[in-house]
Amino acid sequence: MGGPVGVAVVGCGTISNEYLRNLTSFPDLRVLFCADLDIERAKAQADKYGVPAAGSTAQALDQPGVELVVNLTVPAAHAETAATAIAAGKSVWIEKPLALDTASGRRLLAEAGRAGVRIGCAPDTVLGAGLQTAWRLIEAGTIGAPQTALALMQNPGPEGWHTHPEFLFQRGAGPLYDMGPYYLSTFATLFGPAEHVAAVGRRSRDRRVIGRGPRAGTEFDVEVPTHVAALIGYAGGQAASLVLSFDSPLRRHGFVEITGTEATLALPDPNHFDGEVRVRTADADDWTAIPTSGATAGRGLGVLDMARALRSGAPHRASGEIALHVLEVMEAIERSITADAFEPVRTTFPAPAALEADWDPHARTLG
Ligand SMILES: NC(=O)c1ccc[n+]([C@@H]2O[C@H](COP(=O)([O-])OP(=O)(O)OC[C@H]3O[C@@H](n4cnc5c(N)ncnc54)[C@H](O)[C@@H]3O)[C@@H](O)[C@H]2O)c1
Repeated sequence: MGGPVGVAVVGCGTISNEYLRNLTSFPDLRVLFCADLDIERAKAQADKYGVPAAGSTAQALDQPGVELVVNLTVPAAHAETAATAIAAGKSVWIEKPLALDTASGRRLLAEAGRAGVRIGCAPDTVLGAGLQTAWRLIEAGTIGAPQTALALMQNPGPEGWHTHPEFLFQRGAGPLYDMGPYYLSTFATLFGPAEHVAAVGRRSRDRRVIGRGPRAGTEFDVEVPTHVAALIGYAGGQAASLVLSFDSPLRRHGFVEITGTEATLALPDPNHFDGEVRVRTADADDWTAIPTSGATAGRGLGVLDMARALRSGAPHRASGEIALHVLEVMEAIERSITADAFEPVRTTFPAPAALEADWDPHARTLG
């Protein structure tokens, strides 16, 4: 099969806006269907973004032109929705996290392997200009040999802005599973596989209050740690310190520094596709900003890379294997919080290739 890759979006909530805006603008993709449990929501998104049809997930999977399902459901539905799509012979892009636990993630990858389809997984921010620039600088030896990482993500919690934030405080979310993938995928890309972790976790309060939308004022239960401090040791010898918190009145997002033998590199927010990259050596009085280059379109770049790879046969970059590894790291962090001990991490993944400097999401490359 040649030409643009047919896509169905399943899950038409908050984040589907950014995806649909981008996916419908890439000439190598054709968004053919929007699906959701709430069919009216799917129809509204299809109308808004000029997608020709909308309905249920089963109807999406029946569309003959759909080769790739973009699964934007809530974390608890990721694995089941992906498994249904795989069984229908479709490749699947999954929003993070890949699944609620490593065992289900592993099963998904095995099912995809048997069915001869692919799994890709968010975050794809690592394909954006900011992190690609930082990656190229590290590869070029700008900081010497990378040794350590320090990353901080602190805020008062998403219940202030999300109109139905309950899922963000349930299994599969919290700051660890909701925000951890951005930071841990960045470390995985730059350092390779982790081999052990230790962590402490805290929960400042057991109930929170929705701050926005028609249900503002509604209280709901918090099921997961809302402050996580983790230490991660990598097989390549590097060490990372990571704080992820929904318990902080202070907002500090996307603080990521990679320190090497020669210099420290300040990365842009790994939840964004662009941002400042700065370098500082031991004898410098201040940071030096480095201009970034690459794609800044936003969420959906990983779907496009996967679609192009489906046609070329090359590996796609934001792979199911990296996502499974990141999931195992998060699960090990969770286990360490309860066990008060270092926990091993065993999965590995093939190192992804950096994007070509002139990679253009808006180019038509598939005929
Ligand atoms: N909101 C954000 O800023 C953001 C950013 C990045 C990633 N994400 C990720 O995107 C995913 C979705 O988040 P969201 O904020 O858009 O959530 P949301 O609750 O706004 O939307 C989820 C949608 O999925 C639908 N859905 C749930 N289960 C389904 C199923 N089994 N079949 C079909 N549809 C189903 C719901 O009806 C809803 O419309 C999550 O994995 C989240 O971690 C969200």
